[in-house]
Amino acid sequence: MNFPKKIKSDRIELTGVHKPTFELANEIYAHIEESRAHLEVFLPWADTTKSPEDEFVALKDFAQGFDQKTNFAYIIREKNTHRFLGCIELMNVDTKNLSAEIGYWLSKKACGNGYMLEAVRALEKVAFEKGINRIVIRNDVKNIKSAHVARNADYHLDGVLREIRFNDKTKQFDSSNVWSKLKSEA
Ligand SMILES: CC(C)(COP(=O)(O)OP(=O)(O)OC[C@H]1O[C@@H](n2cnc3c(N)ncnc32)[C@H](O)[C@@H]1OP(=O)(O)O)[C@@H](O)C(=O)NCCC(=O)NCCS
Repeated sequence: MNFPKKIKSDRIELTGVHKPTFELANEIYAHIEESRAHLEVFLPWADTTKSPEDEFVALKDFAQGFDQKTNFAYIIREKNTHRFLGCIELMNVDTKNLSAEIGYWLSKKACGNGYMLEAVRALEKVAFEKGINRIVIRNDVKNIKSAHVARNADYHLDGVLREIRFNDKTKQFDSSNVWSKLKSEA
């Protein structure tokens, strides 16, 4: 399954990470630094991304995902200004069961404008067109903002994976919501 390099919608454009560059790693890392407090609560990778070099390694993994057709990571930018807004990824693409998962984050400054809802809708549209039948969004049960994105994008709450993740920071088990949308519901 191939995914396009660019996906556009009303206000945003998604650009696939096909090639890691230091310029892009520096740009994204600056946003991670600025948004660290809100990213670290729910995204374990934020803790381990401590330099532009770490981000460069992440970009290399994203590019490999495109090559191997397993994960498709996109940078989200405002269409008119090219301002960086965040990232969205179609992950765990399973070509036997035609399922995949969407993960995402926004720079703190970009939150509260409906950009992620728009990005989810744009990416899922392409995924369903490519033949994916089921898309999942998972979020920590305490991640109210992410749950809003899934609900506003009309995902169905399949259930809660109870105490699925051990949280190294809090030393407690966290539970995750599992949301899904089927091609027939799009
Ligand atoms: C999860 C996350 C992406 C949600 O960001 P967000 O800005 O709330 O989501 P959206 O871009 O879809 O914006 C929706 C909000 O903008 C508001 N909004 C303003 N203008 C809007 C418009 N034109 N269209 C839609 N919504 C609009 C909505 O009311 C909504 O606010 P609400 O949640 O208080 O109701 C963000 O909080 C984040 O990056 N968190 C840290 C990382 C993370 O947790 N990632 C998810 C892991 S599962």
